[in-house]
Amino acid sequence: MMITSAEFVTSAVRPSQYPVSELPEFAFAGRSNVGKSSLINTLVSRHKLVQTSATPGKTRLVNFFCVNNTFMFVDLPGYGYARVSEEERRRWRPMVEQYLSGRDHLHAVVVILDIRRSPSAEDGQLLQWLERRDIPSVLVATKSDKLSKTAQRKQLTLIADALEVDPADIVLFSSKSRLGRDTLWKRLTDMAQAPPEDERA
Ligand code: GTP
Ligand code: MG
Repeated sequence: MMITSAEFVTSAVRPSQYPVSELPEFAFAGRSNVGKSSLINTLVSRHKLVQTSATPGKTRLVNFFCVNNTFMFVDLPGYGYARVSEEERRRWRPMVEQYLSGRDHLHAVVVILDIRRSPSAEDGQLLQWLERRDIPSVLVATKSDKLSKTAQRKQLTLIADALEVDPADIVLFSSKSRLGRDTLWKRLTDMAQAPPEDERA
């Protein structure tokens, strides 16, 4: 995908702060520190559009980005980091659930996993939550640069078994080497053609 523009639109805590948009929208969700913000930067070929950090809990709001004036990307705060305060955790669920249940043009949620780890209970819960609401998801296993090819295959099988999906459906990704960028873009552009949730039968 050739990127002609990628712009920060706004940050939101509640629905009244969301931008009005009819563009096909994709949200990026996953554990804290898994590499969501880095993955967006890789997709849009910008090093610093989205702030990333080695410290978990960097993204704390729902952040909207407009890409090529064609797509809206939404970076969500991560879940599951033990050291995030109790108050932070209490805020996370309504903020993310309200977003996910309230966007008419949300075409899919990219659920990002660390290829080195077994999926957490929260990863499984998020997928089930999306499935129950007929919101399509795309599974991505990132940080693949940290494993050998053999170990990648082994982990993909393990992750697919745990989540009861086909390993071939998981996009192998690395924000460092850019592996999987084209594959993920292809999935997203295909999904942008399909009607979003509210128009589904
Ligand atoms: P929160 O906003 O805190 O939930 O984190 P996040 O999921 O947005 O993660 P972020 O993109 O900020 O990345 C976290 C750390 O992982 C940073 O130090 C990144 O440089 C690193 N990282 C992200 N993706 C990759 C990758 O594909 N390979 C490698 N080696 N490091 C990565
Ligand atoms: Mg982030």
